Amino acid sequence: MENIPLAQLMSLKGKVAIVTGGAMGIGRGIVERLAEAGAKVLIADLDLEAAKKSASELHQKGWTVLSIKTDVGSEVDVKKMVEVCQEALGGIDILVNNAGIYPPEPVAKMSGEDFEKVMHVNLRSVFLTTKYVSEVMRQQGRGGKIINITSVDAIHPSMVGLAHYDASKHGVWGFTKNSALELAPDNIWVNAIAPGGINTPGVAAMQSAAPQADAEMLKKQTEAFMSKIPMHRMGEPDEIGKVALFLASDMSSYMTGEQVVVDGGVLLS
Ligand SMILES: NC(=O)c1ccc[n+]([C@@H]2O[C@H](COP(=O)([O-])OP(=O)(O)OC[C@H]3O[C@@H](n4cnc5c(N)ncnc54)[C@H](O)[C@@H]3O)[C@@H](O)[C@H]2O)c1
Repeated sequence: MENIPLAQLMSLKGKVAIVTGGAMGIGRGIVERLAEAGAKVLIADLDLEAAKKSASELHQKGWTVLSIKTDVGSEVDVKKMVEVCQEALGGIDILVNNAGIYPPEPVAKMSGEDFEKVMHVNLRSVFLTTKYVSEVMRQQGRGGKIINITSVDAIHPSMVGLAHYDASKHGVWGFTKNSALELAPDNIWVNAIAPGGINTPGVAAMQSAAPQADAEMLKKQTEAFMSKIPMHRMGEPDEIGKVALFLASDMSSYMTGEQVVVDGGVLLS
């Protein structure tokens, strides 16, 4: 095999990426590294204002970053996202399924709707985007990279109150492995990243929005979680962005159906 120089291996020049939920948090960290590596990026996010703001900040760095309002749980929105990306950016080479929600709710208090909403946004979305984006990648005939953001909760629960979330993330990990098998003949590699605790607006909102009794419980669980991290700190979105760049680039040319854990060592304890 040809020994490609490092700079070229990490380059995403000429590639087009979609990052769902890319307006803030982990998604934004991923958008920044992919754009810096030369990819044109479409941020597909429910929060259009935040997506526009991120796109315009990154545009000022000289990168091509566009935004579109997308509810990843909606088939109509996902189809539109795919069409707009092809029209505006000329194709799709990389898909990052990052959008996700984690509203804490004990099973005893959880309604059927609560459960389904989490499944819809976290799991069904991955099926929808993979279905429509892989179709485009197949037609383009130049392969592709799909990266699904799971969680350490796809392996082991981090706290009580996330049974629906953990079920959805276990589902995404299963979907990652099977779709990797199905798409490998088309040179489409499918991998996952399982983050541990990462400092994001979503985590901050989860802690501040909890009702008083739950807030106490959440505080205790957060302290217990923190005390278990061997690196003694939460991660930052860029620490997921860097691994996403690895999986989106030729650096990971012989990897598919794999889940990379990025958790400061929390699963060790
Ligand atoms: N932060 C963590 O500690 C952590 C740990 C493990 C896994 N994760 C996973 O990482 C991903 C991102 O988490 P985060 O903490 O950055 O979240 P966040 O809440 O900070 O940001 C999520 C982004 O997704 C968007 N979004 C929400 N619902 C959407 C929908 N239906 N359609 C499109 N966009 C939508 C939001 O508008 C927001 O921009 C999620 O899949 C989450 O499960 C996070």
